[in-house]
Amino acid sequence: MTDQTQKQVLLELKDYSITFKTPDGDVKAVSNMNLTVRRGERIAIVGESGSGKSQTFLGIMGLLAKNGQTSGQALLEGRDVLSLKPRELDKVRGKDMAMVFQDPMTALNPSLKISRQLTEQLEIHRGFTARAASVEALDMLKRVGIPDPDRRFNLYPHELSGGMRQRIVIAMALLTKPKLLIADEPTTALDVTIQAQILDLFNDLTAEMNTALLMITHDLGVVAGLADRVAVMYAGRIVEEAPVDELFEKPAHPYTAALHAAIPRPDQDVDDLVVIPGRPPNLQHLPKGCNFSPRCPKVEDDCIDRPPQLETLAPQHCAACFHPFPRREELLTHA
Ligand SMILES: Nc1ncnc2c1ncn2[C@@H]1O[C@H](COP(=O)(O)OP(=O)(O)O)[C@@H](O)[C@H]1O
Ligand SMILES: [Mg+2]
Repeated sequence: MTDQTQKQVLLELKDYSITFKTPDGDVKAVSNMNLTVRRGERIAIVGESGSGKSQTFLGIMGLLAKNGQTSGQALLEGRDVLSLKPRELDKVRGKDMAMVFQDPMTALNPSLKISRQLTEQLEIHRGFTARAASVEALDMLKRVGIPDPDRRFNLYPHELSGGMRQRIVIAMALLTKPKLLIADEPTTALDVTIQAQILDLFNDLTAEMNTALLMITHDLGVVAGLADRVAVMYAGRIVEEAPVDELFEKPAHPYTAALHAAIPRPDQDVDDLVVIPGRPPNLQHLPKGCNFSPRCPKVEDDCIDRPPQLETLAPQHCAACFHPFPRREELLTHA
């Protein structure tokens, strides 16, 4: 057993699904997902737009649209958060888990000074006095790399750049010392140099505080230095899960391989960018077999006939595919 598998389990999704009721019928946004997150672990959730990444975690936070319904279990330290009453869930959300979104303004109140937004968290969730909260909040602004924090403490959100606002939101999320931080495409709206800085910040702070990090992204290219493990989602299902190096070196699922091939390389011409042909399936009419079969270069009859289940290929590496790419060891034994 490696270090990772010995760490204590923090969050466990068991047969977790999300269905949206619509006038045209049910939309199965997340299907029978199983995922284990250990303390302090960094997991990337990767997949094209519409694959169910955001809904998965909005569901756990109790933030689904009214027409959405979860099933299965989401055990946070053994307690199923899907069955908590709204008031109990409020507490868990403020204290044990926090979520950072693409647009920092969704989390900020435009009419309150930065200082107030930060101290409020501490006064409500951790019972700080106003003075102690100010000291703590200012310290957190320094830790998230805000230059001249004393001055910026007294500004309003619109007086800051997008990158600074996202740093404030990260500070807000970490002030309550959550055990789990969910970051949903937190740098997609920022320019490239700022993106790298913010991703480094997530890395450093979560390591320092032993916070587990779930990094949601459509860009497999950013996960390399940022995650211990990667789960690839397609049409509401995890189709492959592996330690990050293994996923890059030996992708087993043709969808993962396609995402991999689509990562732009620095020396590449815009005209040579690889795109995955076709589109994800309609979630109201999922294929009978593998969800990826209509786009898959390796499709065979069995793929169209029935859905593949996640199978273990190597320790901590599983994929849902009847014809995964062979691993290097297999190629050697067959040679
Ligand atoms: N309120 C809703 N009603 C019906 N379908 C929804 C609703 N919200 C989300 N969905 C469906 O869930 C799918 C997955 O969405 P999402 O998790 O946001 O994708 P991702 O974050 O991977 O881009 C969407 O493509 C959409 O079909
Ligand atoms: Mg999303």
